[in-house]
Amino acid sequence: MKVWKSITVFFVAIFLLIVSVYGQESPTNAKIETLLSRMTLEDKIGQLNQHSGFSEDEIEAVKQGQIGSLLNVAGAEQTNRIQRMAVEESRMGIPILFGIDVIHGFRTIFPIPLAQACAWDPDLVRQIEAIAAKEARAAGIHWTFSPMVDIARDARWGRIAEGAGEDPYLGSVLAAARVQGFQGMDVSSSQSIMACVKHYVAYGQADAGRDYNRVDVSRKTLYEIYLPPFKAGVEAGVMSVMSAFNTISGIPATANPFTLREVLRGQWGFGGFVVSDWGSIQELVVHGFAANGADAAQKALQAGVDMDMMGHIYGSHLLELVCTGDVPSSLVDEAVRRILTAKAALGLFDQPYVDPDKEGDILLHKDHLAYARHAAGRSMVLLKNENHLLPLHKNMKSIAVIGPLFDSKDDYLGTWACMGRSEDVVTILEGLRNNVSSGTTIQYAKGCNVLDEDNTDFAEAVTIAEQSDVVIAVVGESCDMSGEAASRTQLDLPGKQRELLEALHETGTPIVVVLMNGRPLSIPWVAEHIPAILEIWHPGVQGGNAVADVLLGDTNPSGKLTVSFPWTVGQCPIYYNHENTGRPADENKYTSKYLDCPDTPLFPFGHGLSYTTFEYGNLRLSQDAIERDGTLTVRADITNTGAVEGEEIVQLYIRDMIASLVRPVKELKGFQKIHLRPGEKKTVEFSIGPKETGFYDPEGRFIVQPGDFKLWIAWNSADGLEGQFRLQ
Ligand code: BGC
Repeated sequence: MKVWKSITVFFVAIFLLIVSVYGQESPTNAKIETLLSRMTLEDKIGQLNQHSGFSEDEIEAVKQGQIGSLLNVAGAEQTNRIQRMAVEESRMGIPILFGIDVIHGFRTIFPIPLAQACAWDPDLVRQIEAIAAKEARAAGIHWTFSPMVDIARDARWGRIAEGAGEDPYLGSVLAAARVQGFQGMDVSSSQSIMACVKHYVAYGQADAGRDYNRVDVSRKTLYEIYLPPFKAGVEAGVMSVMSAFNTISGIPATANPFTLREVLRGQWGFGGFVVSDWGSIQELVVHGFAANGADAAQKALQAGVDMDMMGHIYGSHLLELVCTGDVPSSLVDEAVRRILTAKAALGLFDQPYVDPDKEGDILLHKDHLAYARHAAGRSMVLLKNENHLLPLHKNMKSIAVIGPLFDSKDDYLGTWACMGRSEDVVTILEGLRNNVSSGTTIQYAKGCNVLDEDNTDFAEAVTIAEQSDVVIAVVGESCDMSGEAASRTQLDLPGKQRELLEALHETGTPIVVVLMNGRPLSIPWVAEHIPAILEIWHPGVQGGNAVADVLLGDTNPSGKLTVSFPWTVGQCPIYYNHENTGRPADENKYTSKYLDCPDTPLFPFGHGLSYTTFEYGNLRLSQDAIERDGTLTVRADITNTGAVEGEEIVQLYIRDMIASLVRPVKELKGFQKIHLRPGEKKTVEFSIGPKETGFYDPEGRFIVQPGDFKLWIAWNSADGLEGQFRLQ
C-alpha cells in the first residue's frame, strides 16, 4: 500500500511538472520563445552539440555558444568555471547542460543495476537514484544517461550488467522508479537531475550478443518486450531519451522515424528531447544508411534526434543544410526548443552554479554508505544452500578466504563506476575482518587470477583450505568483463577458477562460492558440487560488509534472479517468457531440445533462496470466468516454515492459452515482497484485469481477446501454484 501511495504521489507531481513545463500556457514557454527569437541559426545549432570532456581549446567554443552540453566533466569548481564562460561571456548567456553516466551511483557506488534489480524493490532503486542524483548535482551535474532500460536475454552481451534483466514487466516497474528517483518531485532542486532512458530501442537483442550488432526484430517483439520499459519511463516523466547504436530491422535506431516519431512522440506523447548515443549520428554513414555526414545529420534530425553526442555532425553540417533548404529551420527550432525547455525545467536559467562548499559533505556521506551496504545485501541471490551451510556460525574458529576477487577493490565497483574510487571499497576480506568474532582466524590466498592459465598458487590455497573450517571462494569476472564493448563467447568461470574450486573441493572442507560477475555465468559443475553459492554481482563500495552481513546471518538473503542462468553458452539467448513451439521438448527425438544439454536453464528467472523456508498454499480465485473488461482477484497463503524471519518475493505469472498471436508460456504480471516472522502466514492478493490479460498487436494497439488462461502464484518462473480462468 505504502509503495503504491508514494508512487501515486510521484506520478501526480511529475504530471504537474510536465504540464507546467510543456503546457502551452506556461510562462517558461513564453521565455523560451523569446530566447529563440533572439538566437541566430549558429546559436541554435550550438545548443544541439554535445562534447565530451573539456580542454582549454574548447574555451572559445563555449564563449561562442557552440556547445549546448558537455559530458564527462564533473566537480563543482570545474563546472562552475565553464558555466561562467557560457552564462557570462557568450552572446546568449545560455547555460551548459552537464551530463555524465551516473549508472549505479555517482561517488557512492551501489551494486550494478542488474544486481539492484534482483531485489525486486522499486523503493530501493528509487532511493539509490535519489542519493546518486544528490551527489551528482552537488558536483555540478544536471543529467545522467540512465536508466538503461534495455531488456537483455543474452548473457553474452556485456551490457546485460547495466539493465534490469530479461523481463519487460519488472523492467518497466524499475524503469519508472529509477526515473522518479533521479528526477524527484522537483527536477530543479539541488537533490535532482534529469534522467535519460536508453538505448532506444532493442539494443539488447544484438545478434549473437555482440555489442553494437544489428537487431532484426518484429513489431510484435518490439511492442511486447523492448518498448514497455521505455514507455514506463515516459509515463514516469523522463525528460530525455537516448537513441541506440543498433539498426532495427534495417533502419538505424538513430534515424528511425517509426520508433522516434511515430511511437515515442506520436503514440506516447513524449515531450522531452532525444540525444544520440556517442557518435551514433556519424555512424549512420558506416552503417551504409547515409551517404556522408550531411546526409546523416539530415536523416537523424528528421527522424527526431535533437542532440548530437560527440559526433560533431550537427555542428559541421546543419548550417549549410538549412541554408540550402534541405532541412527546414523549423526542425532545428523544434530541437532547440526541447533542449532549452529541459534547461529551464532544471532551473539552470535561475541558478546555473553549484555551491562548491557543499560538495565535499554530500559525496560519500555516511548515510549514503549505509544505504549502499543495505542495497548490496538486498541485491544478493542465494542460489544454493545445501544442509544449511549458510549462515556461518559467528564463532567459527577458522575461515579461508580464497580466489582472485576477495580483495580486488576495482572489481567491486563494476562497470560504469562514474566517480567511484577503489580506495572507497570495502572488500570481502575487510568485511569479514570487520564482522567476525575475535576468536575467528582468517587466512587468505588468491589461488589464481581471474583470467590467465597460471595455477602455481593453487598449493598455497589448498593448504589454507585444509587448515580451515570453511572456505569462502570468491570467484567470477573482473569489472571490465561486462559493460559496454565487453561481450563474451564463454560464460564458464574464466581462467583457472573452476580448476581451483575442484582442488579446494578435494580437501573436503565445506566451500561457499561467492560469485562476483556482471552477467549470468554457466556454472553446472559448481551447482552440482559446491554446497552453497551466493551471487553478489559487482556489489559496490560496501560490498564486503554486505557479503559479511549475509554470510554471517545478519542479513537474510532475499534477492531473486532477474535473468536466467544457462547450463552453457550454447543455450543463449535463454529466457523464461519464450513462446511454445509446435514441438515442446519431451522424450521424443523430434522435439525442440538439445542433444547435449537440457532446454531449461540451470537457475531459472525468479529463483533465489532464503535462510528460512516458505510454504505456498491455498490458491483461490474470486471467479473462474470474467468478462474481457472484468477483474478477478487471486490469493494464496504464504507461510514462513523456517526458524528465522525473512522476506519472500511472490511472483504472479499468467499464460494466454490461445490468441491471434502466440503468447509466451509464462509472463510475469505482478510481484510482492513480503516479510514474515517464523511461523507467520500472510495472504498475498493480485488483481488480474485487461492490463494483465491484453497484449499489443503489430500496429501497437492493445487488445484483449477471450479464451482460457493459466496463472501461477510462484516462487520462481519454473514452479508455483497453478490455477486457471476464462475470459469471455
Ligand atoms: C554508451 C552510452 C553512454 C555514452 C556516454 C556510449 O558509448 O553507449 O550508454 O551513455 O557512451 O558515455
